[in-house]
Amino acid sequence: MTHLHIALWGVLPYLSLTVLIAGTAWRYRYDRFGFTTRSSQLYESRLLRVGGPLFHYALFLVIGGHVMGLLVPEWITERLRVSETAYHTVALAMGGTAGLAAAGGLGVLLWRRVRVPAVRRATSRSDRLVLPLLTAVLLAGLTATASSVTNPYDYRLGVSVWFRSLFELDPDVPAMAHAPLEYQVHALLAMVLFALWPFSRLVHAFAAPVGYLFRPYIVYRSRARGAGM
Ligand code: HEM
Repeated sequence: MTHLHIALWGVLPYLSLTVLIAGTAWRYRYDRFGFTTRSSQLYESRLLRVGGPLFHYALFLVIGGHVMGLLVPEWITERLRVSETAYHTVALAMGGTAGLAAAGGLGVLLWRRVRVPAVRRATSRSDRLVLPLLTAVLLAGLTATASSVTNPYDYRLGVSVWFRSLFELDPDVPAMAHAPLEYQVHALLAMVLFALWPFSRLVHAFAAPVGYLFRPYIVYRSRARGAGM
């Protein structure tokens, strides 16, 4: 393995994760009121109503696919009698569809950001960096998926092994160094995206009001007739 391989697949993942965690903590501490999506709904809502949900719901499916594909080892699905061919066919159909839908949603959002003057004016320097990068990550992922149709590569025996080895603090550099270029580009761009995440509007992913779903009902009562009136 060359020094470059070690730097890319053995060092960069930890650098990117450290910046993601430390940067998010720093931003939360010093910019709590800016820790938002900086919503542009007031400027335009028709395109946002279509592009926003399409992008986010499709992305949730893509993330679900990544959890399955990267974290669940192949021997487990084999033990469950799911053959590699069956797994790959389902992953391709579902992941590909979700990826295309996410790309469509992002396309609508980017078009809106460029073509609607008020939204364009509300676009920051960090947006100009992070939004094209997010697009590139998505397109590189789709390219990897598309390439797997003609050039079969079992990423669960390569990319996924590398990914899990990072959490064991024993990076399997060769597993990633031998992956096809489109997978390497995808992972590399994703790591750069993670490092820029805390300094952009993407922090809103960590500020989703999940607690809202579980908060107790607010009880409204009408005043008793005549009381204090
Ligand atoms: C280091 C982090 C990541 C790794 C290791 C990774 C790995 C992969 C792998 C192995 C595939 C499957 C390719 C195939 O089907 O053969 C894929 C596809 C894809 N990835 Fe990632 N990915 C990462 C981060 C991301 C991020 C942050 C995004 C979102 C912006 C993303 C979006 C996609 C999309 C849209 C696809 C294609 C559709 C699909 O298969 O779901 N990935 N990625």
